[in-house]
Amino acid sequence: MNFESAKSQLTKVLVTEEQIKTRVAELATEIDAKYAGKDVLLVGVLKGAIMFMADLSRALSISTSMDWMALSSYGSGTVSSGVIRILKDLDAEIHGKHVIIVEDIIDSGLTLSWLQTTLNARGAASVEVVAFLRKPAAAKVEVPVWLVGYDIPNEFVVGYGLDYNEKYRSLNCVAVLDPKVYS
Ligand code: IMP
Ligand code: MG
Repeated sequence: MNFESAKSQLTKVLVTEEQIKTRVAELATEIDAKYAGKDVLLVGVLKGAIMFMADLSRALSISTSMDWMALSSYGSGTVSSGVIRILKDLDAEIHGKHVIIVEDIIDSGLTLSWLQTTLNARGAASVEVVAFLRKPAAAKVEVPVWLVGYDIPNEFVVGYGLDYNEKYRSLNCVAVLDPKVYS
């Protein structure tokens, strides 16, 4: 889906398809450099990170495996509840592995902070975070994020994996959802 086809529900494009491509390639270069010669486990957070994971993993030259977790902090609304539930856990043990958490967006940082603690407690050799988007509120919490694609304003966005009520994930750019859709 492109911006044109959902224009009546979106206010503006924040990150274009072209910008996504360029930035993902830059992030992959940094990851390749840091993890040269290592085996890396990419942990994607479902479902928002699917597009970013698909693009980032294919842009990497290093050897990687993939696993997924599904967490819930939002329900169907647009504001974080702060309560994290595991809807789907990792398939395999991560003890001794170099883990990179692949996240779609950091808003309050609650999800990520919880996830980092959890994966470290399971004995990973290292845990780093790569997030495609970050909102200003994320700066207030103590979550060490290694790489960020784009810092964006505090608006509810959809596309490139991000949804509102499971819609707009397939949008090929990141756009601001028109508040009239959820008010
Ligand atoms: P946090 O725990 O507040 O950092 O929330 C992180 C999760 O909330 C993300 O992984 C997204 O799934 C979801 N989220 C936060 N902001 C947005 C948004 O603007 N659009 C869609 N989903 C969002
Ligand atoms: Mg997410």
